[in-house]
Amino acid sequence: MEKDHGVLSDQPTGAEEDQLEVTLRPQKLREYIGQPKIKHELQVYIKAAQAREEALDHVLLYGPPGLGKTTLAMVIANEMGVNIKTTSGPAIEKPGDLVALLNELKPGDVLFIDEIHRLPKVVEEMLYSAMEDYYIDIVIGEGPTAHPVHFPLPPFTLIGATTRAGMLSAPLRDRFGIVEHMNYYTTEELTKIIFRSATIFNTNIEDEGAHELALRSRGTPRIANRLLKRVRDFAQVAGQHSIDSPIVKKALTLLQVDDRGLDETDRKMLLTMINFYHGGPVGLKTIAANIGEETNTIEEMYEPYLIQIGFISRTPRGRMVTPAAYEHLGFTYPTDKN
Ligand SMILES: Nc1ncnc2c1ncn2[C@@H]1O[C@H](COP(=O)(O)OP(=O)(O)OP(=O)(O)O)[C@@H](O)[C@H]1O
Ligand SMILES: [Mg+2]
Repeated sequence: MEKDHGVLSDQPTGAEEDQLEVTLRPQKLREYIGQPKIKHELQVYIKAAQAREEALDHVLLYGPPGLGKTTLAMVIANEMGVNIKTTSGPAIEKPGDLVALLNELKPGDVLFIDEIHRLPKVVEEMLYSAMEDYYIDIVIGEGPTAHPVHFPLPPFTLIGATTRAGMLSAPLRDRFGIVEHMNYYTTEELTKIIFRSATIFNTNIEDEGAHELALRSRGTPRIANRLLKRVRDFAQVAGQHSIDSPIVKKALTLLQVDDRGLDETDRKMLLTMINFYHGGPVGLKTIAANIGEETNTIEEMYEPYLIQIGFISRTPRGRMVTPAAYEHLGFTYPTDKN
């Protein structure tokens, strides 16, 4: 899988970096690596909708950050051959903002709302009829001249993305016909993503280097791509033409990313729980206060991966550090906990 270009090319400028980010995103389902179940289902739904010449049903994508929700929304629009309008929950402040967005849609188009759990309530309520029956009722004017206007919409597809499906109200969640949970990527899938990105970056990477990098990417393509860029810098400065396993290890040790992908915050969190709370159970708020992070950040970014790899378990009385995490950090699991 190696290519002949060295890593010694000039550093990309800011604009080039942005362009790289764009080209890094796969355009079609067949280029989209991983998430086999979701891809398979979407293929069926897209084909069926196209055969019926209808808009695709509304899609809700949820899962931890950086797993490719935005990318997948763009892929869906691409496969459907329609335009996509992209916005986010907090950006739609008032009903008028939503009307303006919906007004621009052509039949079959996709409206992508990132962080959909952060939509203001009034806007969310307007979405109900828009999603279900393609219309909105708005009140135009104020005081005595105020009058309701019935506003028909073209059939469209709403794609919502959220890191927390639990934060969505039931009426909104129920209006999505297609609900997909994004999973962490396997090491093999991340290795493929790393090879693909390396090719786009014009960088050589050896099989073992890619594998080592994949192991340390927390099951997350965004992290894999970010670490690849940093390791590429280290390789370039070291005058290496190809990224091998030793340079990955060296660079990531400097970046304080360990061989399971844990960073400083992960370790701080686990060590706090071990040293001050006897490995738990300890409440989320207590952990957050101790390490100076928001509870949300811990819940959305740190904890899911630690749970996934079996380093933390959730109990009704709080979070607990598992024996595997003790071992990983070089501690003996207290005998009185067995
Ligand atoms: N399946 C994939 N194959 C290849 N690259 C991917 C894949 N999924 C994501 N990526 C890459 O990972 C990066 C992050 O993806 P994306 O922005 O879509 O994540 P996200 O789930 O929307 O994150 P957030 O929740 O933070 O908005 C992008 O650079 C994208 O190119
Ligand atoms: Mg996104």
